[in-house]
Amino acid sequence: MKFFEPHTPNLLQMKPTNLFENLLVQLKNNILYITIARESKLNALNFKTIDEIGEAFEAVYSEKEIKGVVITGQGNKAFVAGADISEFMSINEVNARKCAEGGQEVFAQIEDCPKPVIAAVNGFALGGGCELAMAAHMRVASKNARFGQPEVNLGLIPGYGGTQRLPKLIGRGKAIELLMTGDMIDAEQAFHYHLVNYVVDNQEELIPKCEEILQKIFTKAPLAIGMIVECVNAAFYNENGYQIEANSFSNSFKTNDFTEGVSAFLNKRKPDFKGE
Ligand code: COA
Repeated sequence: MKFFEPHTPNLLQMKPTNLFENLLVQLKNNILYITIARESKLNALNFKTIDEIGEAFEAVYSEKEIKGVVITGQGNKAFVAGADISEFMSINEVNARKCAEGGQEVFAQIEDCPKPVIAAVNGFALGGGCELAMAAHMRVASKNARFGQPEVNLGLIPGYGGTQRLPKLIGRGKAIELLMTGDMIDAEQAFHYHLVNYVVDNQEELIPKCEEILQKIFTKAPLAIGMIVECVNAAFYNENGYQIEANSFSNSFKTNDFTEGVSAFLNKRKPDFKGE
């Protein structure tokens, strides 16, 4: 699906648009804001929403105007309170596998995105919501955020990467405890466990903090940012990260951004990176 036609007014409009059934999207100052918009269901991820997140990220990959992403939840209570439990009764073991694999694919699309992706966690981030936040490159939480993987209360386990990303982010012991108990942790604890990068006191500060981080990254070389994602993810997944790093390091020497960065340094001026 084409997310939007490049260079149409959609690209520039300031108001979030509902191009999707369950997402609000807005492009402003090169940041695509994706808001999961099912507030009455605490932004629970039904299958349609997951598909739509995948479609939105196709645009993130392809549209040059988009340089970074902020994902958040509608309202002031929840980021995402999990997969939509009401859909679970209608699926069996065969399509449960398909549903997990489909969700994992979309979340991998987020994790592998060559542009920075920040989750602005504005309330409950439970189950699939915690998994969605973990797929982002960074997490900024407001004080009222609550994280947890409560699937065990439903006789289930996480299916969108929770058993894999949680131990990698916070370590095996604490991850197993949270997965086995289904306990929720607050934003301060999440910060303490390195699950979130920053905690802000109130929700009004959440998006500005994400913007501050992204605007700083936007002054850096875009191709190098993509390479960093690839190399760090290689470390995350026990691939031969050193080889991938050496390849990317070598490739970076072929870019115009490298020539620009070095020449700017030597001429004592700010670089103007073009992502080429
Ligand atoms: N899937 C589907 N609907 C959900 C949902 C989910 N994961 N989480 C919340 N909702 C719905 C509720 O059913 C309710 O809908 P209704 O008003 O039509 O009845 C609405 O969102 C508000 O939730 P409610 O439970 O009334 O809010 P609360 O403040 O009392 O409790 C939570 C908030 C997050 C503690 C509670 O909603 C909850 O435990 N949700 C499920 C969390 C979970 O297990 N996630 C993992 C799923 S695999």
